Amino acid sequence: MNQAIKERDYFTDHDVLLDPYAYFEEMRPRGPVCQLETHDCLLVTGFDECVEVLRNPTDFSSLNSLASSAFPLPFTPEGSDISAQLEQNRDKYIGGDMVVTYDDTRHTNIRALISLMFTPSRLKANEAFMREYAEKMVSDVVARGRCELVHEIATPYVTMVIADLMGVPAEDRSVFEEKIAEGQTVGSIDDPDSPTDMSAVLFIAEYMGRYLQERAAKPGADLLSELATASYPDGTKPDLIELISLATFMFAAGQDTSAKLLANAMRYVVDEPGLQQQLREDRKLIPFLLEEVLRLEGSSKATHRLARRDTTIGDTKVPAGTQVIVALAAANRDPRRWGEDANEFKLKRPGIKQHIGFGRGSHTCAGAPLARAEVATMFNTFFDRTDNIEISASHHGAKGARRYEFEPSFIIRGMDNLHLELQAKN
Ligand code: HEM
Repeated sequence: MNQAIKERDYFTDHDVLLDPYAYFEEMRPRGPVCQLETHDCLLVTGFDECVEVLRNPTDFSSLNSLASSAFPLPFTPEGSDISAQLEQNRDKYIGGDMVVTYDDTRHTNIRALISLMFTPSRLKANEAFMREYAEKMVSDVVARGRCELVHEIATPYVTMVIADLMGVPAEDRSVFEEKIAEGQTVGSIDDPDSPTDMSAVLFIAEYMGRYLQERAAKPGADLLSELATASYPDGTKPDLIELISLATFMFAAGQDTSAKLLANAMRYVVDEPGLQQQLREDRKLIPFLLEEVLRLEGSSKATHRLARRDTTIGDTKVPAGTQVIVALAAANRDPRRWGEDANEFKLKRPGIKQHIGFGRGSHTCAGAPLARAEVATMFNTFFDRTDNIEISASHHGAKGARRYEFEPSFIIRGMDNLHLELQAKN
């Protein structure tokens, strides 16, 4: 990075996209909480400080978690508590009607509904579909001897798995697959004025509305029926619009993130010396692989918060109205937390479950168990069907000099494509 670091724009700079970790390492000496010069917001790179923010929903609102800290507030903050002003302006925020941006009781209520969705028994039932579908997809590409992992396998796979889990009718699933595959970037660095294209979300919402109404009238055994007939903890019924928003977000939230995690993890499996063999010989190590990849190269680089009261992060005073980039990717490599080898891959790293690749606190990723199961199932299937997996040198260069293209997003960390060569099982 030649340009002065203070001039680099985290939200739009292509070098930062290529290597966000180098950017964060250059910012780290400015302190775990520092003011950006390119935007009126704080950047939090320290592990303890990120956790502190995420665990303090009283002072930090999630309203800007999707819209990001890149944009000025749509109002002038007044006084030491702007909670009321935030709520008055909620409709001006991208995703202001989505669970990930909710605060307080509204959020607690929705999380209670979500807890109905990922019960161990429901996940177990979904596992059979996951395995079957993975086997079908993987055996097709292994027969050919190669694949492009992101678009041919990972993306359609996670779409189908969540569709099955929710109970989207089989005949509609390909419609979603096509829509998702059109691949709008979430948090685009190339179109900062319109950072999050919501057209796929609106498309999905229309279908979810129809399903929820159908299931309310005639409930079945699926998750959408469960939602359509659910009550909040206080016994009141959610509005249809709230349910549509939840179902849509659940469907959409884990698409890009889970697909990208599979590819990010595959890169380590192939290129870390001896790792592929070690995992093939002991499949019980796969969960350790996933946690270390979530730490080192998790598919969510950052989330955002907005101080709604005068507060602090560590020793830093934070006035109400301050926007905060919570840099998960930086916290997950903070040497104060992870030691001097924080940038290295280490299977079975002590304390690995503390990483914040799925966030922390009340908004912790609701789909984490599903994401873990999806990616582990895929690795097991690839290992069952192949003797060896290589990264295609003709597409990505030789080992030690690989070239990758990354999704141009300030939210997602993941490759646009990953070409593999697959040696079928003997
Ligand atoms: C590797 C894959 C995934 C990663 C890295 C990931 C990451 C995250 C992160 C960091 C958050 C917290 C955002 C914040 O605090 O502002 C989050 C929230 C969320 N995620 Fe995930 N996610 C993944 C997969 C999934 C899947 C598969 C689903 C659903 C099927 C899902 C559903 C959600 C939901 C509903 C929330 C909002 C929770 C709330 O606001 O209370 N995620 N995710």
